Amino acid sequence: MSEITFSPGTRTWLLSTPHTSYALRLDATDAPCHVHWGEPLTMAQVEALPGMYRPGRTDSFAGRRIAEEIAADGGDRYGVPGLQVRFADGTRGIEWAYLGYEIAEHESNGQESALTLELRLRDRHYPLAITLHYRVFHDSDVIERSLTLDHMRTVDETEESALSVLRADSAGWALPMRADYRGGHVVGDWAAETQLRRDALPWGETVLTSRRGITGHQANPWVMLDAGDADERRGQVWSAALAWSGSWRIAVQRGTDNRVLVTGGFGHDGVSWRLDPGERLTTPTFAGLYTDGGFGATSRAWHEYVLHQVLPDPQTVRPVLYNSWEATEFDVDEAGQRKLAAQAAALGVELFVMDDGWFGARTSDRAGLGDWTPNPERFPDGLGPLIGEVHRLGMGFGLWVEPEMVNPDSELYRSHSDWVLHFDNRERTELRSQLVLNFARPDVAAWAHDWLDSLVTEHAIDFLKWDMNRSFSQAGWPEHGADGSADGLWIDYVRNVYAIIDRLRADHPNLRIEGCSGGGGRVDLGMLARTDQVWPSDNTDALDRLTIQHGFTQLYPARVMSAWVTDSPNSTTGRAIPLHFRCHVAMSGVMALGGNLTEWSDHELREVAREVARYKEIRDTVQLGARYRLSDPSVPSGLTAVQYTSTDESETVVFAWQPTRSISREPGPVRLAAVDPESRYRDRDSGRAYDGALLAAYGLPLDLPSGDYASSLTVLDRISAH
Ligand code: GLA
Repeated sequence: MSEITFSPGTRTWLLSTPHTSYALRLDATDAPCHVHWGEPLTMAQVEALPGMYRPGRTDSFAGRRIAEEIAADGGDRYGVPGLQVRFADGTRGIEWAYLGYEIAEHESNGQESALTLELRLRDRHYPLAITLHYRVFHDSDVIERSLTLDHMRTVDETEESALSVLRADSAGWALPMRADYRGGHVVGDWAAETQLRRDALPWGETVLTSRRGITGHQANPWVMLDAGDADERRGQVWSAALAWSGSWRIAVQRGTDNRVLVTGGFGHDGVSWRLDPGERLTTPTFAGLYTDGGFGATSRAWHEYVLHQVLPDPQTVRPVLYNSWEATEFDVDEAGQRKLAAQAAALGVELFVMDDGWFGARTSDRAGLGDWTPNPERFPDGLGPLIGEVHRLGMGFGLWVEPEMVNPDSELYRSHSDWVLHFDNRERTELRSQLVLNFARPDVAAWAHDWLDSLVTEHAIDFLKWDMNRSFSQAGWPEHGADGSADGLWIDYVRNVYAIIDRLRADHPNLRIEGCSGGGGRVDLGMLARTDQVWPSDNTDALDRLTIQHGFTQLYPARVMSAWVTDSPNSTTGRAIPLHFRCHVAMSGVMALGGNLTEWSDHELREVAREVARYKEIRDTVQLGARYRLSDPSVPSGLTAVQYTSTDESETVVFAWQPTRSISREPGPVRLAAVDPESRYRDRDSGRAYDGALLAAYGLPLDLPSGDYASSLTVLDRISAH
């Protein structure tokens, strides 16, 4: 159970989650100061902390030595500002004044109850209210935080001019003093997303950011910090993740005093927002998690949080889908899609998704985006007949859309060239021959909602793959003028994308949505709050996927990780990999097929049908169970092994992949995690039985085929206690 308590004598709040504590207090100047984030402590213990470990002095060189809950700008603060405003008269900085607090119990995600703390402060002189929000759950150690700014109207209306918000982070997270901090995060690129990096944290300031209008392939908005001594199974880890799908910035500061401060929020350096009197700025959630069970426990706690608190529909099993993109690219027509659909259905596929190329003049990536009516030559009778056939075959029907984009060569652009992000007197840079529609504009957002709503209403569409294939450039809205309000589009754009998806889901409760952005360019907790799964990468090479999936699942659960089995050699990398290995990689996420089935041999079709059937047996465990990494895939030529344990612990699924073999060293056995030493386990295929104690101590012997790209899938049933 979680709890939030307040001690008026020291003006300290203590947030207790099932296994951790978080504490903050007001100092003599009313500044909200960080006290503790880590092991469970009592109120008496956290009240003793400031005097014992955090002398309240100000150092003339280093400035303020006490971390504020949000690093306000101004005065004697010299760190990275998390809250930075300029008032109408030119005054900058914040001086705090305390207004009050509220602790409340709420419903969250329709079921679990959550506790919230709202700490209300304001600027001592100017009419700016600043509210710090905290939310804790009864079944999670994740603490959600955000910030609200209200530019209040004054009674005598002395302050009637806008103020500029130069930075409004959602939260600051302060870590205790440790000698050897290490920082974990992911880096990447198109087709090479979520590459995990875990390095000594540099002294000074490390900035992770996206300036692209989307979350980005290059970084993902989360950090994991440890004192250099954590590993997969043990050690203290502090992590934080931002629920935002536009530009963002997380700054990590490490001082020579061995303290670490993390501040994060939406927007990137250089954009500012105007806040008129009476207006409010709300920020996205920046959630934090402390665990003392190493990186494995950290990932599992985030997975559970995503399943229980973030996803709109965590319970529905993710179907095995077929996507036609790699088979046809833009060469799409009704006859070809029918053929693929028939083949997919015969393999056990449950959802058939037609990708790009079905609409307007979209026969290549150079034309047609924005014209969302079926191409009359390719679909002479519209989409109805194909959808009918797909349903007749017993599958759901899904469709690719990219609502935020337009090709200049399109009817839409010819009639609405002012609808794209642009500046006067500046080129409109095309990427993939397309421009970004300004979704911050209410008329553009309304247009997008209307055609999507009609598309889904008029056709029996079960699933949309919502793509977004380029970063912003010339992100202007000239009609909005030159003041700071124009930068507001960076936020309003994302909010309108969210609002459209939310409205579509509310109006079409059976519609499922996959998030995509040129692969994994927009994967974050904000998108996951309104989608069912996401496309991690356009790179479907099974070997590369092992690394991508390793980084992806540091934070996000297998339940949302779409994974296609595609052709060999792979269309992106040219690498040839045997089918069983490709299947096993896909089966460790949300398995799907994405190859050109018309070219597959009967033998291959039979094998993949068997693997699809097998996947359906184990997918509850993969999609909803606890994931244990049994090895590190970044070790060259090493064995990668992953274990999933069902929520009731009756089923254990172990995947092992060995890309290359050495004659002198056979891989395995792999020691399993989370096995009950008192129980016995039986291999569902071989019938062999194992003592849990031996699986933990000596491991599971691997039955890998010979040669390179060997892989195995072992399913163990817990059969008895001794
Ligand atoms: C992006 C997606 C792909 C595919 C193409 C279609 O690259 O990531 O999966 O949908 O667009 O143009």
